[in-house]
Amino acid sequence: MPVNKTFLHVFDKDSVYNLNKLESDGYIGQLIGPIGSGKESYVYMSTDYRGRKVAVKIHRHEIASFNKIPAYLKLRGTRTGGFLKRIDDWSRYEFTFQSKAFDAGIKTPEPYRLFKNVIVMQFIGEDETPARLAVKDTSFDVQKWYGTIIDSIVTLGKRGIIHGDLSAYNILNANGDPYIIDFSQALKLTSLTKEYLERDINNINNWFKKLGVEELRQLDDITKEIAGEQ
Ligand SMILES: Nc1ncnc2c1ncn2[C@@H]1O[C@H](COP(=O)(O)OP(=O)(O)OP(=O)(O)O)[C@@H](O)[C@H]1O
Ligand SMILES: [Mg+2]
Repeated sequence: MPVNKTFLHVFDKDSVYNLNKLESDGYIGQLIGPIGSGKESYVYMSTDYRGRKVAVKIHRHEIASFNKIPAYLKLRGTRTGGFLKRIDDWSRYEFTFQSKAFDAGIKTPEPYRLFKNVIVMQFIGEDETPARLAVKDTSFDVQKWYGTIIDSIVTLGKRGIIHGDLSAYNILNANGDPYIIDFSQALKLTSLTKEYLERDINNINNWFKKLGVEELRQLDDITKEIAGEQ
């Protein structure tokens, strides 16, 4: 059992079943943590059967904030279904987009396995200590990070991907390197979704402006590069 009695109060029975399945297949062991929890998910550390440290993100089944899902699924063009199916679709979308980002060479935890509402991925941190969010650990080279993050937005954009929630709350400071996490709000770049790309760019520009970066790239300049117009 990856989850002991305490967790039974935390997770619903479907999530417990899904975690047990991942354990019996060797993708996770005992859960340690939580190392993070948002409105919509819990994240734990664990070790797989080969001894590799993993982060386990469990999308909560019971939360109310998922009422943003219908609007998102519409933008994504996936059909809505029952509640559990919708959470599973949500998790699959996150896993798929994070995998595409990883394959594009973006610094993001390597996604290892998806099962229903659970994503198993590379653990970012040292020993058992998870890397801290950029909002909490600001010891990084601001100029270098700005360049890397804008390059990441462009690389993803050229592949038709928008992160959709890019901020200091979704970037880990891994020993000075920015690791982009949380692709749960990712979207395909289309004429309907380009405002989400612009929002990401504006958020990053505002953040780095506050951090003192003077030469910020203009929104238009970045979107044109993505569209291949320069
Ligand atoms: N691969 C990882 N390695 C180390 N820590 C992680 C990893 N993934 C997530 N975390 C930690 O867990 C926290 C929550 O993760 P994440 O941002 O993906 O979920 P969330 O904010 O709950 O997102 P959602 O919008 O899906 O509910 C992060 O802020 C981070 O501290
Ligand atoms: Mg997050």
